[in-house]
Amino acid sequence: MSRTLLPALLLCTGLFTINASAENTERLMRKASRHFSPLPAEMPGAENDTPELIALGRKLYSDPRLSINDTQSCASCHPLDNQRAGMDNLPRSPGAEGTLGNRNTPTVLNAGWQFALFWDGRAKDLADQAGQPILNPIEMGMPDQQTVVVKLAALEEYRSAFRSAYPDSDTPITYANIAHAIAAFERTLRSESRFDDFLSGDKEALNARERNGLNLFIRSNCVRCHDGPLIGGTLYEKLGAYAPFHSSEDQGRFEITKKEEDRMVFKVASLRNVALTAPWFHDGSATSLADAVQLMGRMQLDVELKPEEIGDIVAFLGSLSDKALEIRP
Ligand code: HEC
Ligand code: HEC
Repeated sequence: MSRTLLPALLLCTGLFTINASAENTERLMRKASRHFSPLPAEMPGAENDTPELIALGRKLYSDPRLSINDTQSCASCHPLDNQRAGMDNLPRSPGAEGTLGNRNTPTVLNAGWQFALFWDGRAKDLADQAGQPILNPIEMGMPDQQTVVVKLAALEEYRSAFRSAYPDSDTPITYANIAHAIAAFERTLRSESRFDDFLSGDKEALNARERNGLNLFIRSNCVRCHDGPLIGGTLYEKLGAYAPFHSSEDQGRFEITKKEEDRMVFKVASLRNVALTAPWFHDGSATSLADAVQLMGRMQLDVELKPEEIGDIVAFLGSLSDKALEIRP
């Protein structure tokens, strides 16, 4: 081979590889767009939320006086400060009196885009959900709605905050308005990730390993359940379709509907921010994301993922974290 031909040939193959990988990335982007979409600009219902209403909701969300002994707020279990991703990273959370709840705390980030709330979907939207923990005996433990309303109405700071949030109402401090205002604040908890940038056309947003993980996520058929803008949060599925979940103590939707076909049926979790919300599953039993991915393959798809495939999928899941919160690879 001549002296000039060899480098020329190497240059050509080099360019060819770069071109081929750019083309693969574009193909992957198109494939991904068939299953997922970037986070919408606004959560359903946000169009009527005023700054005053959101400010009131933020105040209520972090106020421990909404609990029986002034120790616990929504933020105790769903912290948003100190780089926390809207949950406490405990398997199960202690309530106001220290009693542990029976399920793992999900994140509040992006929650309002889901089709239903709670692991079993028993709340229809954010406001319906927000009214429940305050009266839950093992969470915030208030005895009834009226006690909460009377407690807040005794405080001038709340009388004025409710007046500005509900300027047209003669009795702005109601239990429904408390839940409604908290929901308005939660509608601002939108978290965008590098995966959104990728779906919007930025080829550099995911690295090679994350792109491989995305490809595997689609090819292994995780997208059968985890798809759409939240990569989940749109349907109920039986947990353990092929191999049983380690525990059947919590029967999921069956606890609500009492229908046989709802045994072990749970809401398909949204995987946005999943790398930040350890431990995983409704009982917080998976302590590594790799274990959770491997179990999902076995339980939901009857596939045995190889360690390097699991590693790539975990890398992809990391790209679903909020950009300000993510721990970069
Ligand atoms: C003691 C801890 C604790 C407190 C306090 C608490 N939560 Fe939760 N939260 C949980 C747990 C546990 C679940 C899941 C329960 C279930 O699915 O049965 C949950 C579920 C949720 C969900 C549903 C998320 C999803 O993806 O389905 C939202 C939203 C939420 N909480 C918001 C709030 C708000 C608002 C408050 C305050 C009014 C609050 N939480 C107080 C522990 C807590
Ligand atoms: C047949 C539907 C289905 C398929 C397919 C599926 N999942 Fe899931 N996934 C679920 C359900 C339901 C849950 C909620 C589990 C629970 O209640 O503990 C879940 C939960 C998860 C969780 C834990 C989320 C959390 O916050 O605790 C991860 C991670 C996950 N899935 C990843 C995957 C991966 C990766 C694949 C593909 C290998 C996959 N899933 C395939 C239905 C499915």
